[in-house]
Amino acid sequence: MYRGMKAPVVSTPRLKWLLGCVTILLTTFILYVFLYNEPRATVLAYPQPQVNIIPNQLDKHSVHKDECDRSKPLVVWKPKGRLGNIICEYVHLLKLADFFSVDIRTSVSMHEALAPIFPHLSVKTPSSPCESERLKHVAWITYPKARERLLNQTNRAELLVIWDTPCDVMQIWQSRLQWLSEFIVNSELKEAAALRLQNMTRNVESLKNFTVDDDTTLVGIHVRRSDYWTVLDKYNFGGVLPRQYYEAAFKYYRKRFEKPLFIVITEPGEYDWCRENLSKNSRDVILADDRRSPEEDLILLSSFAHIIYSHGSFGVWGILLSEAETVAYPDHKNDGDKVRYPPHQAFDEIGKMQNRTEYITIMYKSGEE
Ligand SMILES: *[C@@H]1O[C@H](CO)[C@@H](O)[C@H](O)[C@H]1NC(C)=O
Ligand SMILES: *[C@@H]1O[C@H](CO)[C@@H](O)[C@H](O)[C@H]1NC(C)=O
Ligand SMILES: *[C@@H]1O[C@H](CO)[C@@H](O)[C@H](O)[C@H]1NC(C)=O
Ligand SMILES: *[C@@H]1O[C@H](CO)[C@@H](O)[C@H](O)[C@H]1NC(C)=O
Ligand SMILES: *[C@@H]1O[C@H](CO)[C@@H](O)[C@H](O)[C@H]1NC(C)=O
Repeated sequence: MYRGMKAPVVSTPRLKWLLGCVTILLTTFILYVFLYNEPRATVLAYPQPQVNIIPNQLDKHSVHKDECDRSKPLVVWKPKGRLGNIICEYVHLLKLADFFSVDIRTSVSMHEALAPIFPHLSVKTPSSPCESERLKHVAWITYPKARERLLNQTNRAELLVIWDTPCDVMQIWQSRLQWLSEFIVNSELKEAAALRLQNMTRNVESLKNFTVDDDTTLVGIHVRRSDYWTVLDKYNFGGVLPRQYYEAAFKYYRKRFEKPLFIVITEPGEYDWCRENLSKNSRDVILADDRRSPEEDLILLSSFAHIIYSHGSFGVWGILLSEAETVAYPDHKNDGDKVRYPPHQAFDEIGKMQNRTEYITIMYKSGEE
């Protein structure tokens, strides 16, 4: 960075020295702005930045030479959305590296969101100082734009920072061999989910006079509501699902299994809705309202052999990370003049392409809501 820099004509060594100092200070400042200033800090804040050391010196102890390959674009993802979105983003990042010859990194915040759940992620956070050089060419870009740009073969040394949140379920499913080996769930989380479920099924005996035994089939339900209607509305996907959908799904499983027990998972803001509308008047429906983290809820959902899906990427990942035998989701006939919600569309297709998981569509009549 400094080598090719020519100072303007200087008469005295003192002036030269001063100019050098100013340049170093300026560069430090620029790097500081790039590395730490919000919102960029979440993307490029390295664990231990050493921006005040001159790059020439740093090159000597670059962490891995191959991480510093300037002949390839470097792509970093600044996560957007919540847990389910971030897992989708990680998969789309993997796909970029698979499709184009690029180096990929997770931002620190993406890493912090995913590593506690999945300790075996292959994509690392930026670790070597060579990325600082690339900051000169940083481009903030959406995923489709990044693909277009990489197809265009523009500046090979540039750094692309992706900030949107695609979640193409069909593409994700098709690339499952790539991410399945990475998304190995932290064993402590898995054990905690099993204990939590055990506790819940034990409590249901006194709560609902329901005895869990060998004849019981556990069914997990993810209820996505709250702010999601804005997204569903914006793209004409229909509204959030009414009570009648969940009831129809319960009815399906009650017919299919002798003694199902339904465990509803949702976010704290929807506990009241679910209690009032789903669990209160049913002996076989309970609500996981113990205010656990999204990570704990996701792993619990993924532990069921039968899952009732509503909307959203969280539920998608509950299903994709599970070894579910059956997945229930709304029937396309319920869409009316609406656009079929893309993950539902993807399940229509996935159901036809494999037979490990049975994808079951549920018809329901939505009443007055
Ligand atoms: C890709 O190239 C086309 C044609 O030159 C151009 O119109 C488009 O803006 C480029 N896209 C990006 C993201 O650079
Ligand atoms: C088990 O359930 C009870 C009642 O909901 C709760 O108070 C307790 O904290 C739970 N224990 C564990 C280990 O989850
Ligand atoms: C609990 O359920 C059993 C049958 O499942 C029934 O015989 C018993 O009367 C019920 N007890 C109460 C308190 O409802
Ligand atoms: C139960 O559902 C109805 C219809 O969506 C809603 O108006 C009501 O507020 C819900 N109950 C609670 C406690 O949220
Ligand atoms: C369905 O399962 C059978 C074995 O049970 C297998 O031979 C077959 O290839 C599967 N079909 C599809 C479409 O995956």
